[in-house]
Amino acid sequence: MYELAVFFHILGGFIWIGGLLFVQSFWHRIILSDSDDAARSLYDAINWSANRVIMPAALTVLVMGITMVSVSGAWAFSQIWVILALVLFAVSAFGFGTWTDKLFATALLRLEEERMSGAGYRAAAQKLIRVARVDGFVVKTILGLMVFKPSF
Ligand code: HEM
Repeated sequence: MYELAVFFHILGGFIWIGGLLFVQSFWHRIILSDSDDAARSLYDAINWSANRVIMPAALTVLVMGITMVSVSGAWAFSQIWVILALVLFAVSAFGFGTWTDKLFATALLRLEEERMSGAGYRAAAQKLIRVARVDGFVVKTILGLMVFKPSF
């Protein structure tokens, strides 16, 4: 049972971190695109996959992480690396996740209303890529906590 939790925890981590990097490359592709339709379909693809792949992977990481700490005598919620991992998880999933959703929703709404040119997509992608980069740093910091398990 424990090994299964570790397996899905790490698998979820791969998909989450890999997914964030993939999304960043898509933002770049939108910024470079000179076709409105291409930018629009990339935008929709990111939105679709973020909600159906990255978010479930992040939730799997959290549920399996809490399970591992709960069932194993080796870990405790009082350990600083576990506390930091949970705090940074909340910052990433609920902070950047919500922020990204808001930026998405606003940009999509504006795009719907004004049928904006590719410039609109590119401007929105510029903003979202900055969020994705900071979020990527936060998630990699959690990964560092996992491997080094610091006890200050
Ligand atoms: C971005 C989020 C996270 C990622 C990518 C991640 C990834 C990993 C990885 C790769 C390991 C294996 C490290 C090793 O064997 O040295 C690990 C171990 C572990 N993680 Fe996470 N983790 C994340 C968040 C969390 C959270 C929020 C918790 C706590 C609630 C947690 C609890 C644990 C525990 C207890 C282990 C030790 C498992 C063991 O070695 O038996 N993780 N994590």
